[in-house]
Amino acid sequence: MNDELPIRPATPDDVPAADAVARDVLFSLPPGVDEAERQRRSHARIAHLMHTDPGGAWVAERADGRVAGVALALVREGIWGFSLFAVAEDVQGRGVGRRLLQACFAYGDGARGHVILSSEKPAAMRLYARLGLDIRPAIAAAGIADLARMPAAVARVEDAGVSGIPLADAIGRRVRGAGHARDLPVALASGASLLTFEDRAFAVAREGNVMLLAALDDEAASIVLWAALEAAGPGRTVRVDFLTAGQDWAVRTCLDAGLALSPDGPMFTGGQLGPMRPYVPSGAYL
Ligand SMILES: CC(C)(COP(=O)(O)OP(=O)(O)OC[C@H]1O[C@@H](n2cnc3c(N)ncnc32)[C@H](O)[C@@H]1OP(=O)(O)O)[C@@H](O)C(=O)NCCC(=O)NCCS
Repeated sequence: MNDELPIRPATPDDVPAADAVARDVLFSLPPGVDEAERQRRSHARIAHLMHTDPGGAWVAERADGRVAGVALALVREGIWGFSLFAVAEDVQGRGVGRRLLQACFAYGDGARGHVILSSEKPAAMRLYARLGLDIRPAIAAAGIADLARMPAAVARVEDAGVSGIPLADAIGRRVRGAGHARDLPVALASGASLLTFEDRAFAVAREGNVMLLAALDDEAASIVLWAALEAAGPGRTVRVDFLTAGQDWAVRTCLDAGLALSPDGPMFTGGQLGPMRPYVPSGAYL
């Protein structure tokens, strides 16, 4: 008997079910965020990517039509990124993930560069390595920031809002190889701040999570990271994920702020990207 679950392109009607599958196997509720708010943000992110990249949005279906898996890829200026990947626990290990990933990867045919932020799941890391991408091991930093060593220049960081998008886009293009202008409005509409420092650095942060950061030099990167930590407010746990080799400026800054380091899922990259440093990638938009 063929018990393969079929996969098909996702439609906007799949957003709630796709989010529910991802929530069950992937997302933990950030402290201080209620489930309704998490859902609103996640639905906005999934709907946005289904709209911008319909060819990179796939779901797996059970026999009764319910969604059992979801995979979302995006292509920005020739760079392919894998944004969301989840298969319901009871059907994992049956090849559903492999087929979803294949469909998303095919969407990126012709892309000059690839980026994936992996979970620590053996199945995920195996699939990504088998694509032929290079592994970049990563660590995360977290804790309550001690701002005593914050440099005075942080006072010159601006909370730029949407007016900072063109600058962030230009810096992202230099550092990642593709700008983030298409995706930043969605992040800002979900309550994130866009912090900019001169014309040298930007960070996107929400409730203590540094969601994306790029800069033209290490000093500016560190200054805008401090600003993101400060913006979390006193006593809130902050997180900086996916710090790969080359982001020593961030490791030093996080240690100066009293944060603790721990292992994180690796990043996988391939092809022609920008220097990818100083850079903290975005889980949703890479
Ligand atoms: C990662 C995930 C999407 C993979 O989906 P899946 O349907 O379970 O994966 P598949 O059955 O297609 O297996 C993929 C590969 O991993 C292997 N694999 C499966 N389970 C494994 C395990 N526990 N340990 C090691 N390898 C495993 C399979 O053999 C297969 O390799 P092969 O194609 O060379 O035989 C799914 O496990 C999941 O949702 N995990 C939780 C969320 C998550 O981590 N998502 C990834 C975010 S980056």
